[in-house]
Amino acid sequence: MKLEICLFFGVTVFCVSTADFSPPVVNISLDVPAFQRWAPLKKLYDIDFLRKAAAEVIDSTVPEWVHDAVKPIVKALEKYIPQPYAGEIQGIASFYGTDIADIVLLNFAYEVSAFCTSIVTQDTKGNIYHGRNLDYPHDVLRNLTVDVMFIKNGKVAYRGTTFAGYVGLWTGQSPNKFTVSGNERRKGYWWENVISAVLLKSSPVSWLVRETLEEAVDFQDAVFRLAKVPIITDVYYILGGVHAREGVVITRDRSGPADIWPLDPLLENWYRVETNYDHWLPAPKRDDRRDVAMKALNATGQNHISMDSLYQVLSIDPVCNRITVYTTIMSAATPEKYKTVVRDICM
Ligand SMILES: *[C@@H]1O[C@H](CO)[C@@H](O)[C@H](O)[C@H]1NC(C)=O
Ligand SMILES: *[C@@H]1O[C@H](CO)[C@@H](O)[C@H](O)[C@H]1NC(C)=O
Ligand SMILES: *[C@@H]1O[C@H](CO)[C@@H](O)[C@H](O)[C@H]1NC(C)=O
Repeated sequence: MKLEICLFFGVTVFCVSTADFSPPVVNISLDVPAFQRWAPLKKLYDIDFLRKAAAEVIDSTVPEWVHDAVKPIVKALEKYIPQPYAGEIQGIASFYGTDIADIVLLNFAYEVSAFCTSIVTQDTKGNIYHGRNLDYPHDVLRNLTVDVMFIKNGKVAYRGTTFAGYVGLWTGQSPNKFTVSGNERRKGYWWENVISAVLLKSSPVSWLVRETLEEAVDFQDAVFRLAKVPIITDVYYILGGVHAREGVVITRDRSGPADIWPLDPLLENWYRVETNYDHWLPAPKRDDRRDVAMKALNATGQNHISMDSLYQVLSIDPVCNRITVYTTIMSAATPEKYKTVVRDICM
């Protein structure tokens, strides 16, 4: 049964659905060979469910008649996929008991998705909070959402939120260094991604997020990498750090940065909201999540922004909407507070 509890806060109404839930958390060891690394998923999910869910996502993204036709091409792509992703994808295909082309396609099909909202904020004490909604029009993803701890030498090297079977990250945290989220920019076609992956040898945007979480030494290094490394499609990267003013929205072209938009708290710009439109252009009337989020942030005020109030902002209609899959709230300076909530239908 779905139950909604609504709170009145100034002029804004916040509703919390009791059907929201926390996703499972799984440890994935980077010390284990790539092929076996994702095996712990087998304990969390029924394999039949995973296989059906993967088929549903692929079928709705790639028309069925195209699917069969592209299988050989996608198989060829396997040769171009760098490690460790190639090994991880092969391992997942083997324990799903499915064609590797399906898992490759799944990892590229998700790449072209997602209406999202990301917000980075700074409170009056200089603490940075970062939140994101991931929107994607597939109910089945709610049950595939998983929080992953990537373990290296027995310690959490970084963590993130993803979908079972998908090896990249759209949301993640490098503890005590930075947090990052990705939002789609310009709807592309999955085959454009495949072509630019093969011809240009660029990375999917969610793999660059993972590499950055693994390798960047601090916020600034992360900004530099996410701004510069060539990727297969345009995207917005939103980052938060651990010190005052460490917050930025990077608007990416495939080859490099189109724009860098940092927090500027001295000029009262204590938050940045990014949805799926370039920030220097008005948001389209038919999809104006940006102004709604900004109005709610203005109503909250810099002295009241916190992980909880940021979550409330990300729960307002239509920032949270019928295709919102999950909300993550994070702050790199307090990594243990990383929180993902799988959303029931927000209206
Ligand atoms: C997700 O899991 C719940 C509980 O197991 C189930 O009731 C629901 O139908 C599942 N949803 C989808 C879309 O598979
Ligand atoms: C995951 O790994 C961390 C670090 O080694 C450990 O503290 C934690 O208990 C592990 N969690 C699970 C569910 O195994
Ligand atoms: C939020 O407040 C800022 C600064 O006062 C103002 O420039 C902006 O127009 C406000 N935005 C909304 C959507 O209320």
